[in-house]
Amino acid sequence: MISIAIDGPAGAGKSTIAKELAKRLGCIYVDTGAMYRAVGLYCLRQNIDYNEETEVNAALPHIKLDIEAIKEGQKIYLNGQDVSTAIRTSEVAAAASKVATYGEVRKTLVSQQRQMKEEKSLVMDGRDIGTVVMPDATLKIFLTASSEERAKRRYLEYKQKGMVVDLQTLIQEIEERDYQDSHRSISPLKKAEDAKEVDTTFKTVDEIVTHILHLLA
Ligand code: CDP
Ligand code: CDP
Repeated sequence: MISIAIDGPAGAGKSTIAKELAKRLGCIYVDTGAMYRAVGLYCLRQNIDYNEETEVNAALPHIKLDIEAIKEGQKIYLNGQDVSTAIRTSEVAAAASKVATYGEVRKTLVSQQRQMKEEKSLVMDGRDIGTVVMPDATLKIFLTASSEERAKRRYLEYKQKGMVVDLQTLIQEIEERDYQDSHRSISPLKKAEDAKEVDTTFKTVDEIVTHILHLLA
């Protein structure tokens, strides 16, 4: 079985690259960010103040997440309901980044992620995959790109979906989330010592995937 860990900040290209790698290697793709987003969405829907750790901890036993690998990537179910699209908003991203600072939330999700790794060959992306979830991964990649480039990518995505967003606001949101993700005390976003760093700023998806496949060979 093989396991590939892809980490990096928001918009670095993790899910695009990880999905394509999984397709070429014939294994499944697991998006762990979607799990933190689903916990954030649950709090927003249930009017749980996600800034209150004890309230979020108390909600955890009521949150059941199921991941389904599909050809296009992954579907995520929150208590049986498909929330794969509902989790893709800036509001949910901000809630996800906050609940991801709580130890109990991380413990619960990390144990589910490790279980998936025991069952199948996979490409998993997130923030702590190479450092915490699969320290023994076959290959670890740390993707980067400038915050302007990452915000521009998000901007284009939202625009394609017909959503109105302001680029300056997106740059600010991404920088705030980067700060929160890399400065939290538990499992902060950081490159594992043995991870290969790949700057995606001026590269196409195909170039990056080909490069990673070479590293694997
Ligand atoms: O897609 P994007 O890179 O914007 O974010 P995401 O991967 O969907 O993750 C949403 C949030 O979940 C991140 O800002 C992190 O705070 C958190 N996260 C985490 O802490 N650990 C992971 N393994 C994955 C995501
Ligand atoms: O998962 P993460 O938040 O790291 O990023 P993503 O959702 O895979 O990528 C964000 C956007 O950047 C997507 O629309 C990708 O198509 C685009 N992208 C790109 O333009 N060039 C790359 N080398 C990688 C991703």
